[in-house]
Amino acid sequence: MTGEFLSRSAEETREYARRFAVGLRPGDAVCLTGPLGAGKTEFMRGITEVFGCDSQLSSPTFSLLNIYEGSMKGQVLEVHHFDLYRLESEKELEATGFEEYLSGPFISVVEWGEKFPSYADRFTRRVTFCIAGEGVRKITIM
Ligand SMILES: Nc1ncnc2c1ncn2[C@@H]1O[C@H](COP(=O)(O)OP(=O)(O)OP(=O)(O)O)[C@@H](O)[C@H]1O
Ligand SMILES: [Mg+2]
Repeated sequence: MTGEFLSRSAEETREYARRFAVGLRPGDAVCLTGPLGAGKTEFMRGITEVFGCDSQLSSPTFSLLNIYEGSMKGQVLEVHHFDLYRLESEKELEATGFEEYLSGPFISVVEWGEKFPSYADRFTRRVTFCIAGEGVRKITIM
């Protein structure tokens, strides 16, 4: 799925994310790009809902990687949520095993991945967020 959507609430953003997520497959890596508070984590929540991930997404205490266990067609599927906001160097990122995680049979969802251009071609999907007013977000899926 590609396209553009004007979301008028966090719930609409999660709903749009659910429509997007049904097309994802293990091995997909989704880069979520947009300013602070643009709705990247809300979008991520919609993705976890589609795969029946039980654990609650907790914000905003920083965690580089949260792993959620869900399922797809009766098979266990891990959804990996990265937030690279606080990471400062590519060296640091390498040391986390990011490359290996992206290569695994998971669904990877990465906030602030565009900070590290050498990983740009590792993403299979890109979603960008613009703040378009109070409670309004323009979401573009490429
Ligand atoms: N249309 C909308 N879509 C998504 N979130 C919205 C919308 N309108 C208002 N919000 C609010 O904006 C905030 C988005 O927060 P969220 O944590 O998803 O942002 P983020 O892009 O992950 O930011 P960060 O870069 O800090 O992690 C939430 O408080 C949410 O309720
Ligand atoms: Mg976030």
